[in-house]
Amino acid sequence: MTRLKLGKLICVGTGMRMAGQVTPLARSHIETADVVVSAVPNIFTRNWIQGIAKEFICVLGYYTDCDVDGKNRRDTYRRMADTILENVRAGKTVCAAFYGHPGIFACISHMAIKDARAEGYIAEMLPGISAEDCLVADLGIDPGRTGMQSMETTQFMIYERRIDPTAMFILWQPALAGELSLKRFDTTAARLQVLVDKLARDYPLDHEVILYEAATSPLEKTRADKLRLRDLPSASLQQITTLVIPAAFPLRPDQAIVDLLNALPELPVAV
Ligand SMILES: C[S@@+](CC[C@H](N)C(=O)[O-])C[C@H]1O[C@@H](n2cnc3c(N)ncnc32)[C@H](O)[C@@H]1O
Repeated sequence: MTRLKLGKLICVGTGMRMAGQVTPLARSHIETADVVVSAVPNIFTRNWIQGIAKEFICVLGYYTDCDVDGKNRRDTYRRMADTILENVRAGKTVCAAFYGHPGIFACISHMAIKDARAEGYIAEMLPGISAEDCLVADLGIDPGRTGMQSMETTQFMIYERRIDPTAMFILWQPALAGELSLKRFDTTAARLQVLVDKLARDYPLDHEVILYEAATSPLEKTRADKLRLRDLPSASLQQITTLVIPAAFPLRPDQAIVDLLNALPELPVAV
């Protein structure tokens, strides 16, 4: 029988808004873990975590690894996951804290959990409030109305994807659109134009899209700038911007399926 080893990993999310969106369970793990390993960019949230954690390790500095020849973001993410695992292997209860939801567009937590479990440690993830959750609340768009597609911008650009323009489409990390070196954290108007040209296969160029940025503190305002798709290359994009493309066309009934369903026998009435 395999015995689970000492050492444990819990990945938690801090939500998008400073301290206010962390769940009571996540907060309890931050407070009680032997060590909190954190990749939270917001300085206020970081200070808050540091203030309540027993021991605190910030791995954000690892991003400078990308400046080294031959290294890119994937090496940084691997090193962050390795730091988490080193502490688990040392027999500690480790809380790894990420902003938003720890498993949404956050590969480090998935890597660390997979490796920890493979080595026989208990590892789990707790859900957090993601940018997408805030977006639904701030923009008042119910994903259930038209359905929703959600994708990383560069992935959408460089792979053949089938997009449904009758559903909402969320593109994450548009500020890194087409950045193939995985070393930089920006894009260019030319790359955004490539994105627009690809989107124009399914959407009219004058379709209204939204640049969304959830407020991360009570002092900030939420950004929900509306613009025409064709104007995207000249727009100002931040690393926290998410591009929201509302449905461009109404849903069309699939009459063949409706007919099939109507032709099915009725269920007998329950007595
Ligand atoms: C690496 S992902 C992290 C997502 C995060 N784990 C979550 O649960 O939302 C970074 C991307 O998330 C989105 N994002 C991050 N902060 C945001 C904010 N304040 N408002 C809107 N979108 C945000 C942007 O698309 C950004 O490029």
